[in-house]
Amino acid sequence: MIVKPGKALQGAVTLPGDKSISHRAILFAALAAGESVIDNVLVSGVTEAMLRALTALGVAWRLEGTRLTVQGHGRSGLQAPAAPIDCGNSATTIRLLVGALAGAGVTAVLDGSPGLRRRPMLRVVEPLQQMGVALTAVAGRAPLTLGASPYPLQALTYTLPVASAQVKSCLLLAALAAAGPTTLVEPGPSRDHTERMLRKMGARVEEGSGEERWVRLYPPAAELRPLQMTVPGDMSSAAFLMVAALITPGSLVTLRGVGLNPTRTGLLDALRRMGADITITHETEMAGEPVGDVALRAGELRGTEISGDLVVRMIDEFPAFAVAAALAEGQTVVRDALELRHKESDRITVLCQELRAIGADVTETADGFVIVGKPALPGGTINPHQDHRLAMALAVAGLCSVKGVVVQEAEIITESFPTFVPKLRELGAEIEQQFDR
Ligand code: S3P
Repeated sequence: MIVKPGKALQGAVTLPGDKSISHRAILFAALAAGESVIDNVLVSGVTEAMLRALTALGVAWRLEGTRLTVQGHGRSGLQAPAAPIDCGNSATTIRLLVGALAGAGVTAVLDGSPGLRRRPMLRVVEPLQQMGVALTAVAGRAPLTLGASPYPLQALTYTLPVASAQVKSCLLLAALAAAGPTTLVEPGPSRDHTERMLRKMGARVEEGSGEERWVRLYPPAAELRPLQMTVPGDMSSAAFLMVAALITPGSLVTLRGVGLNPTRTGLLDALRRMGADITITHETEMAGEPVGDVALRAGELRGTEISGDLVVRMIDEFPAFAVAAALAEGQTVVRDALELRHKESDRITVLCQELRAIGADVTETADGFVIVGKPALPGGTINPHQDHRLAMALAVAGLCSVKGVVVQEAEIITESFPTFVPKLRELGAEIEQQFDR
Protein backbone atom coordinates (compact mmCIF):
# COMPACT_ATOMS: atom_id res chain seq x y z
CA MET A 1 0.00 0.00 0.00
CA ILE A 2 1.36 3.41 -0.95
CA VAL A 3 -0.01 6.45 0.89
CA LYS A 4 0.86 9.84 -0.55
CA PRO A 5 0.88 13.14 1.30
CA GLY A 6 -2.28 14.78 0.15
CA LYS A 7 -4.97 17.35 0.36
CA ALA A 8 -7.29 17.91 3.30
CA LEU A 9 -9.68 15.08 4.24
CA GLN A 10 -13.34 16.06 4.12
CA GLY A 11 -16.67 14.32 4.63
CA ALA A 12 -18.54 11.83 6.79
CA VAL A 13 -18.15 8.05 6.92
CA THR A 14 -19.55 5.15 8.94
CA LEU A 15 -17.35 2.47 10.45
CA PRO A 16 -17.62 -1.31 10.26
CA GLY A 17 -18.98 -3.06 13.35
CA ASP A 18 -16.87 -3.20 16.48
CA LYS A 19 -14.49 -6.18 16.52
CA SER A 20 -14.85 -6.98 20.23
CA ILE A 21 -18.64 -6.71 20.20
CA SER A 22 -18.88 -8.73 16.95
CA HIS A 23 -16.77 -11.54 18.42
CA ARG A 24 -18.97 -11.68 21.47
CA ALA A 25 -22.25 -11.46 19.56
CA ILE A 26 -21.22 -14.35 17.27
CA LEU A 27 -20.12 -16.60 20.13
CA PHE A 28 -22.85 -15.71 22.62
CA ALA A 29 -25.52 -16.23 19.95
CA ALA A 30 -24.22 -19.79 19.59
CA LEU A 31 -24.66 -20.32 23.35
CA ALA A 32 -28.23 -18.91 23.39
CA ALA A 33 -31.43 -20.86 22.87
CA GLY A 34 -33.08 -19.57 19.67
CA GLU A 35 -32.38 -17.46 16.60
CA SER A 36 -30.17 -14.38 16.97
CA VAL A 37 -30.04 -11.63 14.33
CA ILE A 38 -26.99 -9.37 14.47
CA ASP A 39 -26.71 -6.38 12.12
CA ASN A 40 -23.53 -4.51 11.16
CA VAL A 41 -21.41 -7.44 12.31
CA LEU A 42 -17.72 -7.06 11.44
CA VAL A 43 -16.82 -9.34 8.52
CA SER A 44 -13.04 -9.65 8.63
CA GLY A 45 -10.24 -12.17 9.11
CA VAL A 46 -10.56 -12.40 12.88
CA THR A 47 -14.36 -12.65 13.02
CA GLU A 48 -14.30 -15.24 10.24
CA ALA A 49 -12.19 -17.33 12.65
CA MET A 50 -15.03 -17.19 15.18
CA LEU A 51 -17.60 -18.08 12.51
CA ARG A 52 -15.47 -21.08 11.46
CA ALA A 53 -15.48 -22.18 15.09
CA LEU A 54 -19.31 -22.09 15.13
CA THR A 55 -19.39 -24.36 12.09
CA ALA A 56 -16.93 -26.75 13.76
CA LEU A 57 -19.23 -26.85 16.81
CA GLY A 58 -22.28 -27.73 14.69
CA VAL A 59 -23.95 -24.30 14.99
CA ALA A 60 -25.76 -23.09 11.84
CA TRP A 61 -25.30 -19.46 10.78
CA ARG A 62 -25.99 -17.34 7.70
CA LEU A 63 -24.33 -14.11 6.64
CA GLU A 64 -26.15 -11.73 4.25
CA GLY A 65 -23.96 -8.66 3.79
CA THR A 66 -23.29 -7.62 7.37
CA ARG A 67 -26.45 -9.25 8.81
CA LEU A 68 -25.64 -12.45 10.67
CA THR A 69 -28.29 -14.97 11.71
CA VAL A 70 -27.26 -17.69 14.17
CA GLN A 71 -29.36 -20.70 15.24
CA GLY A 72 -28.42 -21.33 18.86
CA HIS A 73 -29.49 -24.48 20.66
CA GLY A 74 -28.18 -23.53 24.11
CA ARG A 75 -24.84 -24.48 25.59
CA SER A 76 -25.78 -28.16 25.63
CA GLY A 77 -26.44 -27.95 21.88
CA LEU A 78 -22.75 -27.55 20.96
CA GLN A 79 -21.07 -30.59 19.42
CA ALA A 80 -17.46 -31.65 20.01
CA PRO A 81 -15.48 -30.63 16.89
CA ALA A 82 -14.04 -33.41 14.73
CA ALA A 83 -10.68 -31.65 14.27
CA PRO A 84 -8.69 -28.88 16.02
CA ILE A 85 -10.45 -25.52 15.71
CA ASP A 86 -8.33 -23.02 13.77
CA CYS A 87 -8.58 -19.64 15.53
CA GLY A 88 -6.38 -18.00 12.88
CA ASN A 89 -4.66 -14.86 14.22
CA SER A 90 -7.42 -14.13 16.70
CA ALA A 91 -6.55 -14.08 20.40
CA THR A 92 -10.10 -12.99 21.21
CA THR A 93 -11.43 -16.09 19.44
CA ILE A 94 -9.21 -18.58 21.23
CA ARG A 95 -9.46 -16.99 24.70
CA LEU A 96 -13.23 -16.46 24.67
CA LEU A 97 -13.87 -19.80 23.01
CA VAL A 98 -11.86 -21.80 25.54
CA GLY A 99 -13.94 -20.30 28.37
CA ALA A 100 -17.23 -20.87 26.57
CA LEU A 101 -16.39 -24.47 25.67
CA ALA A 102 -15.16 -25.18 29.20
CA GLY A 103 -18.56 -23.92 30.42
CA ALA A 104 -20.40 -25.99 27.82
CA GLY A 105 -18.54 -29.20 28.62
CA VAL A 106 -17.21 -29.54 25.05
CA THR A 107 -13.91 -31.35 24.51
CA ALA A 108 -11.78 -29.72 21.80
CA VAL A 109 -8.34 -28.66 20.64
CA LEU A 110 -7.97 -24.93 19.91
CA ASP A 111 -5.10 -23.80 17.73
CA GLY A 112 -4.17 -20.99 15.35
CA SER A 113 -1.53 -19.26 13.24
CA PRO A 114 2.17 -19.13 14.19
CA GLY A 115 1.49 -15.58 15.44
CA LEU A 116 -1.32 -16.80 17.70
CA ARG A 117 0.87 -19.62 19.01
CA ARG A 118 3.27 -16.98 20.34
CA ARG A 119 0.60 -15.23 22.46
CA PRO A 120 0.49 -15.96 26.23
CA MET A 121 -2.27 -18.40 27.25
CA LEU A 122 -1.40 -19.19 30.89
CA ARG A 123 -3.45 -16.16 31.85
CA VAL A 124 -6.58 -18.14 30.90
CA VAL A 125 -5.30 -21.69 31.48
CA GLU A 126 -4.38 -21.27 35.16
CA PRO A 127 -7.67 -19.79 36.43
CA LEU A 128 -9.70 -22.24 34.30
CA GLN A 129 -7.73 -25.08 35.89
CA GLN A 130 -8.60 -23.61 39.29
CA MET A 131 -12.27 -23.97 38.29
CA GLY A 132 -11.64 -27.66 37.70
CA VAL A 133 -11.41 -27.46 33.89
CA ALA A 134 -9.31 -30.24 32.32
CA LEU A 135 -7.12 -28.01 30.13
CA THR A 136 -3.54 -28.15 28.92
CA ALA A 137 -1.35 -25.81 26.88
CA VAL A 138 2.04 -26.31 25.26
CA ALA A 139 4.60 -24.33 27.29
CA GLY A 140 1.87 -21.85 28.17
CA ARG A 141 0.80 -21.32 24.53
CA ALA A 142 -1.64 -22.72 21.97
CA PRO A 143 -2.62 -25.37 21.02
CA LEU A 144 -4.98 -25.66 23.99
CA THR A 145 -6.54 -29.06 24.72
CA LEU A 146 -9.84 -29.21 26.61
CA GLY A 147 -10.67 -32.61 28.10
CA ALA A 148 -13.76 -33.82 29.98
CA SER A 149 -14.16 -31.80 33.20
CA PRO A 150 -16.32 -32.69 36.23
CA TYR A 151 -19.56 -30.59 36.30
CA PRO A 152 -20.57 -28.18 37.61
CA LEU A 153 -17.29 -26.24 37.53
CA GLN A 154 -16.03 -24.72 40.76
CA ALA A 155 -17.04 -21.13 41.41
CA LEU A 156 -13.98 -18.89 41.35
CA THR A 157 -12.82 -15.83 43.27
CA TYR A 158 -9.82 -14.53 41.39
CA THR A 159 -7.70 -11.41 40.96
CA LEU A 160 -6.59 -10.96 37.36
CA PRO A 161 -2.83 -10.33 37.14
CA VAL A 162 -3.36 -7.92 34.21
CA ALA A 163 -6.37 -5.84 33.12
CA SER A 164 -7.59 -8.00 30.25
CA ALA A 165 -11.10 -8.20 28.84
CA GLN A 166 -10.21 -11.44 27.07
CA VAL A 167 -9.26 -13.12 30.34
CA LYS A 168 -12.26 -11.64 32.17
CA SER A 169 -14.64 -12.73 29.41
CA CYS A 170 -13.15 -16.21 29.20
CA LEU A 171 -13.70 -16.74 32.92
CA LEU A 172 -17.22 -15.24 32.91
CA LEU A 173 -18.20 -17.65 30.11
CA ALA A 174 -16.86 -20.64 32.06
CA ALA A 175 -18.61 -19.27 35.17
CA LEU A 176 -21.99 -19.73 33.43
CA ALA A 177 -21.56 -23.41 34.39
CA ALA A 178 -20.12 -22.97 37.90
CA ALA A 179 -21.67 -24.24 41.13
CA GLY A 180 -22.07 -20.66 42.49
CA PRO A 181 -21.24 -17.04 41.75
CA THR A 182 -17.78 -16.21 40.37
CA THR A 183 -16.08 -12.95 41.39
CA LEU A 184 -13.22 -11.43 39.40
CA VAL A 185 -11.13 -8.53 40.65
CA GLU A 186 -9.46 -6.45 37.94
CA PRO A 187 -6.43 -4.17 38.16
CA GLY A 188 -7.83 -1.77 35.52
CA PRO A 189 -10.94 -0.79 33.54
CA SER A 190 -10.86 -3.32 30.69
CA ARG A 191 -13.70 -3.27 28.16
CA ASP A 192 -17.03 -4.47 29.58
CA HIS A 193 -18.89 -5.61 26.44
CA THR A 194 -19.25 -9.15 27.80
CA GLU A 195 -20.94 -7.95 30.98
CA ARG A 196 -23.34 -5.72 29.01
CA MET A 197 -24.23 -8.43 26.49
CA LEU A 198 -24.69 -11.24 29.00
CA ARG A 199 -27.05 -9.00 30.98
CA LYS A 200 -29.11 -8.38 27.83
CA MET A 201 -29.29 -12.15 27.43
CA GLY A 202 -30.74 -12.58 30.93
CA ALA A 203 -27.68 -13.33 33.09
CA ARG A 204 -27.18 -11.61 36.44
CA VAL A 205 -23.87 -9.75 36.36
CA GLU A 206 -22.93 -7.29 39.09
CA GLU A 207 -19.95 -5.00 39.24
CA GLY A 208 -18.25 -2.58 41.57
CA SER A 209 -15.67 0.14 41.00
CA GLY A 210 -14.92 1.45 44.49
CA GLU A 211 -11.49 0.81 45.94
CA GLU A 212 -11.45 -2.45 44.05
CA ARG A 213 -12.86 -3.03 40.58
CA TRP A 214 -14.77 -6.32 40.49
CA VAL A 215 -17.37 -8.20 38.48
CA ARG A 216 -19.58 -11.08 39.70
CA LEU A 217 -21.59 -13.52 37.58
CA TYR A 218 -24.37 -15.73 38.96
CA PRO A 219 -24.81 -18.90 36.89
CA PRO A 220 -28.22 -18.55 35.23
CA ALA A 221 -30.84 -21.23 35.86
CA ALA A 222 -32.49 -20.55 32.46
CA GLU A 223 -30.98 -20.61 28.95
CA LEU A 224 -29.45 -17.38 27.60
CA ARG A 225 -31.89 -15.38 25.43
CA PRO A 226 -30.96 -14.87 21.75
CA LEU A 227 -29.69 -11.48 20.54
CA GLN A 228 -31.47 -8.93 18.32
CA MET A 229 -28.94 -6.17 17.91
CA THR A 230 -26.93 -3.81 15.73
CA VAL A 231 -23.19 -3.65 16.40
CA PRO A 232 -21.89 -0.09 16.95
CA GLY A 233 -19.05 1.25 14.76
CA ASP A 234 -15.57 0.22 15.88
CA MET A 235 -13.77 2.87 17.93
CA SER A 236 -10.48 1.05 17.32
CA SER A 237 -10.91 1.30 13.54
CA ALA A 238 -12.18 4.88 13.89
CA ALA A 239 -8.87 5.64 15.64
CA PHE A 240 -6.95 5.56 12.34
CA LEU A 241 -9.38 7.91 10.62
CA MET A 242 -9.43 10.17 13.68
CA VAL A 243 -5.66 10.56 13.62
CA ALA A 244 -5.71 10.94 9.81
CA ALA A 245 -8.16 13.83 10.14
CA LEU A 246 -6.21 15.54 12.92
CA ILE A 247 -2.78 15.40 11.22
CA THR A 248 -3.78 16.24 7.63
CA PRO A 249 -3.90 20.06 7.44
CA GLY A 250 -7.29 21.60 6.65
CA SER A 251 -9.25 18.38 7.34
CA LEU A 252 -12.77 18.22 8.76
CA VAL A 253 -14.14 14.70 9.14
CA THR A 254 -17.19 13.17 10.83
CA LEU A 255 -17.30 9.52 11.87
CA ARG A 256 -20.88 8.36 12.34
CA GLY A 257 -22.24 5.81 14.80
CA VAL A 258 -18.99 5.12 16.65
CA GLY A 259 -19.11 3.03 19.84
CA LEU A 260 -18.36 5.31 22.80
CA ASN A 261 -18.24 2.80 25.64
CA PRO A 262 -16.15 4.60 28.31
CA THR A 263 -13.82 1.59 28.55
CA ARG A 264 -12.89 2.25 24.90
CA THR A 265 -12.63 6.04 24.65
CA GLY A 266 -9.15 6.55 26.09
CA LEU A 267 -7.82 7.76 22.73
CA LEU A 268 -10.41 10.56 22.63
CA ASP A 269 -9.26 11.68 26.08
CA ALA A 270 -5.59 11.45 25.09
CA LEU A 271 -6.11 13.43 21.86
CA ARG A 272 -8.13 16.09 23.68
CA ARG A 273 -5.27 16.45 26.17
CA MET A 274 -3.06 17.08 23.14
CA GLY A 275 -5.33 19.94 22.12
CA ALA A 276 -7.32 18.12 19.42
CA ASP A 277 -10.57 19.70 18.21
CA ILE A 278 -13.13 16.89 18.69
CA THR A 279 -16.91 17.28 18.93
CA ILE A 280 -19.35 14.50 19.80
CA THR A 281 -22.98 14.72 18.70
CA HIS A 282 -26.05 12.46 18.25
CA GLU A 283 -25.23 10.45 21.37
CA THR A 284 -27.55 7.50 21.82
CA GLU A 285 -27.55 3.84 22.86
CA MET A 286 -27.32 0.77 20.66
CA ALA A 287 -27.47 -2.78 22.05
CA GLY A 288 -26.71 -1.51 25.56
CA GLU A 289 -23.65 0.38 24.31
CA PRO A 290 -23.26 4.18 24.01
CA VAL A 291 -22.68 5.46 20.45
CA GLY A 292 -22.34 8.86 18.79
CA ASP A 293 -20.91 10.85 15.89
CA VAL A 294 -17.34 12.11 16.28
CA ALA A 295 -16.27 15.21 14.32
CA LEU A 296 -12.58 16.09 14.11
CA ARG A 297 -10.88 19.19 12.79
CA ALA A 298 -7.16 19.21 11.98
CA GLY A 299 -4.97 21.46 14.08
CA GLU A 300 -1.80 21.76 16.14
CA LEU A 301 -1.27 18.96 18.68
CA ARG A 302 1.07 19.07 21.67
CA GLY A 303 2.84 16.21 23.46
CA THR A 304 1.32 14.57 26.54
CA GLU A 305 1.88 11.84 29.14
CA ILE A 306 -0.10 8.60 29.22
CA SER A 307 -0.10 6.13 32.13
CA GLY A 308 -2.31 4.08 34.47
CA ASP A 309 -5.99 3.42 33.68
CA LEU A 310 -5.85 5.51 30.51
CA VAL A 311 -3.48 2.92 29.02
CA VAL A 312 -6.14 0.22 29.50
CA ARG A 313 -8.88 2.41 27.98
CA MET A 314 -6.82 2.90 24.78
CA ILE A 315 -4.91 -0.39 24.74
CA ASP A 316 -5.42 -1.05 21.00
CA GLU A 317 -4.92 2.58 19.99
CA PHE A 318 -1.21 3.08 20.67
CA PRO A 319 -0.09 2.64 17.05
CA ALA A 320 -2.52 5.39 15.92
CA PHE A 321 -1.76 7.51 18.98
CA ALA A 322 1.99 7.26 18.40
CA VAL A 323 1.57 8.70 14.90
CA ALA A 324 -0.28 11.71 16.35
CA ALA A 325 2.49 12.09 18.96
CA ALA A 326 5.19 11.89 16.27
CA LEU A 327 3.61 14.96 14.65
CA ALA A 328 2.81 16.88 17.85
CA GLU A 329 4.81 19.75 19.26
CA GLY A 330 7.06 18.61 22.11
CA GLN A 331 7.50 15.34 23.93
CA THR A 332 5.05 12.48 24.56
CA VAL A 333 5.75 9.85 27.23
CA VAL A 334 3.87 6.52 27.51
CA ARG A 335 4.30 4.45 30.72
CA ASP A 336 2.64 1.38 32.30
CA ALA A 337 2.06 -0.15 28.86
CA LEU A 338 3.93 -3.46 29.21
CA GLU A 339 0.86 -5.31 27.86
CA LEU A 340 1.65 -3.83 24.44
CA ARG A 341 4.48 -6.37 24.20
CA HIS A 342 1.86 -9.18 24.09
CA LYS A 343 -0.30 -7.97 21.20
CA GLU A 344 -0.22 -9.06 17.52
CA SER A 345 3.42 -7.91 17.60
CA ASP A 346 5.58 -6.52 20.40
CA ARG A 347 3.88 -3.15 20.02
CA ILE A 348 6.65 -1.35 21.90
CA THR A 349 9.73 -2.61 20.03
CA VAL A 350 8.16 -2.95 16.59
CA LEU A 351 6.18 0.29 16.73
CA CYS A 352 9.32 2.24 17.74
CA GLN A 353 11.41 0.53 15.06
CA GLU A 354 8.92 1.16 12.23
CA LEU A 355 8.20 4.74 13.31
CA ARG A 356 11.95 5.39 13.12
CA ALA A 357 11.93 3.91 9.60
CA ILE A 358 9.72 6.80 8.48
CA GLY A 359 11.84 9.37 10.31
CA ALA A 360 10.14 9.77 13.70
CA ASP A 361 12.16 10.53 16.84
CA VAL A 362 11.20 7.64 19.17
CA THR A 363 12.93 5.99 22.13
CA GLU A 364 11.79 2.64 23.48
CA THR A 365 11.49 2.22 27.27
CA ALA A 366 10.78 -0.93 29.32
CA ASP A 367 7.03 -0.28 29.56
CA GLY A 368 6.38 2.31 26.87
CA PHE A 369 8.12 4.89 24.72
CA VAL A 370 9.11 8.54 24.43
CA ILE A 371 8.40 10.47 21.23
CA VAL A 372 9.62 13.93 20.30
CA GLY A 373 7.30 15.33 17.66
CA LYS A 374 8.19 16.91 14.31
CA PRO A 375 6.15 19.13 11.96
CA ALA A 376 6.26 16.43 9.23
CA LEU A 377 7.77 12.95 8.88
CA PRO A 378 10.18 12.22 6.00
CA GLY A 379 8.34 8.96 5.09
CA GLY A 380 9.72 5.64 3.81
CA THR A 381 8.94 1.92 3.68
CA ILE A 382 7.65 -0.02 6.67
CA ASN A 383 7.12 -3.66 7.59
CA PRO A 384 4.06 -4.16 9.80
CA HIS A 385 5.29 -7.51 11.16
CA GLN A 386 1.89 -9.15 10.59
CA ASP A 387 0.22 -6.56 12.83
CA HIS A 388 -2.92 -5.04 11.27
CA ARG A 389 -2.91 -1.99 13.54
CA LEU A 390 0.73 -1.14 12.82
CA ALA A 391 0.01 -1.34 9.09
CA MET A 392 -2.94 1.08 9.32
CA ALA A 393 -1.29 3.54 11.73
CA LEU A 394 1.86 3.86 9.64
CA ALA A 395 -0.20 4.14 6.46
CA VAL A 396 -1.99 7.12 7.99
CA ALA A 397 1.40 8.70 8.82
CA GLY A 398 1.97 8.84 5.05
CA LEU A 399 -0.69 11.56 4.79
CA CYS A 400 1.52 13.96 6.73
CA SER A 401 4.89 12.88 5.30
CA VAL A 402 7.28 14.43 2.80
CA LYS A 403 7.60 11.52 0.36
CA GLY A 404 4.79 9.17 1.42
CA VAL A 405 4.76 5.79 3.19
CA VAL A 406 4.94 2.35 1.57
CA VAL A 407 3.42 -0.42 3.70
CA GLN A 408 4.70 -3.89 2.85
CA GLU A 409 2.42 -6.93 3.26
CA ALA A 410 -0.46 -4.53 3.77
CA GLU A 411 -3.11 -7.24 3.28
CA ILE A 412 -2.86 -7.91 7.03
CA ILE A 413 -5.28 -4.98 7.52
CA THR A 414 -8.14 -7.24 6.37
CA GLU A 415 -7.88 -8.98 9.75
CA SER A 416 -9.83 -6.16 11.40
CA PHE A 417 -10.70 -3.36 8.91
CA PRO A 418 -11.07 -4.63 5.33
CA THR A 419 -12.61 -1.32 4.21
CA PHE A 420 -9.78 0.87 5.55
CA VAL A 421 -8.61 1.97 2.09
CA PRO A 422 -12.08 2.70 0.62
CA LYS A 423 -13.04 4.68 3.75
CA LEU A 424 -9.88 6.82 3.55
CA ARG A 425 -10.40 7.31 -0.20
CA GLU A 426 -14.00 8.40 0.48
CA LEU A 427 -12.52 11.18 2.61
CA GLY A 428 -10.13 12.19 -0.19
CA ALA A 429 -6.89 10.36 0.63
CA GLU A 430 -4.64 9.18 -2.20
CA ILE A 431 -3.79 5.52 -1.68
CA GLU A 432 -2.58 2.82 -4.02
CA GLN A 433 -3.26 -0.71 -2.97
CA GLN A 434 -1.93 -3.88 -4.56
CA PHE A 435 -3.81 -6.69 -2.91
CA ASP A 436 -7.23 -8.19 -3.46
CA ARG A 437 -9.79 -8.70 -0.75
C1 S3P B 1 -10.14 -7.53 23.40
C2 S3P B 1 -9.38 -7.23 24.51
C3 S3P B 1 -8.03 -6.64 24.45
C4 S3P B 1 -7.77 -6.04 23.07
C5 S3P B 1 -8.19 -6.94 21.95
C6 S3P B 1 -9.66 -7.26 22.03
C7 S3P B 1 -11.47 -8.14 23.58
O1 S3P B 1 -7.09 -7.67 24.70
O2 S3P B 1 -6.40 -5.72 22.96
O3 S3P B 1 -7.93 -6.32 20.69
O4 S3P B 1 -12.25 -8.17 22.61
O5 S3P B 1 -11.76 -8.58 24.69
P1 S3P B 1 -6.63 -8.09 26.18
O6 S3P B 1 -7.77 -8.71 26.86
O7 S3P B 1 -5.51 -9.06 25.97
O8 S3P B 1 -6.18 -6.82 26.84
